[in-house]
Amino acid sequence: MGRLSVTILLILSALQGSNVNVYERNCVACHRHVSPSLEKLFFDYLLKYSSERRVKRALADYLKHPTKKRSVASEEVIQKYGLMPKTWLRDTDLHKAIDTYWETYKVFGKIK
Ligand code: HEC
Repeated sequence: MGRLSVTILLILSALQGSNVNVYERNCVACHRHVSPSLEKLFFDYLLKYSSERRVKRALADYLKHPTKKRSVASEEVIQKYGLMPKTWLRDTDLHKAIDTYWETYKVFGKIK
């Protein structure tokens, strides 16, 4: 995608301001350049924290205060990309982004 279309996309998503867009604009936009994928990291969180409430709380904490000690990412990943930068999102947007992230990858609803 060209720089112009990216800009237009960003403006459009800013105007709509829905949950999905906070997630797309912030999380996905950066994670596109990061491996392991958001999906893989999601399942690492799920394994470590098991419930929806605990996953969401741990993730909100991590996004606000990323530390090597709490990270589920491997040494190699942190060497390559550094820690995820501390989020600049407001709490409301942060929670919207996390809710969308959860809805995108949660498996429970899909199994039924
Ligand atoms: C500017 C880039 C950037 C943005 C924005 C970003 N991330 Fe990350 N994220 C990374 C990088 C790099 C890592 C790997 C290093 C680490 O784990 O800290 C990572 C790690 C993670 C992890 C694993 C955390 C852990 O315990 O190591 C999760 C889950 C995650 N991101 C989700 C998100 C979500 C959800 C958002 C949006 C609210 C988001 N990220 C925004 C770059 C980003």
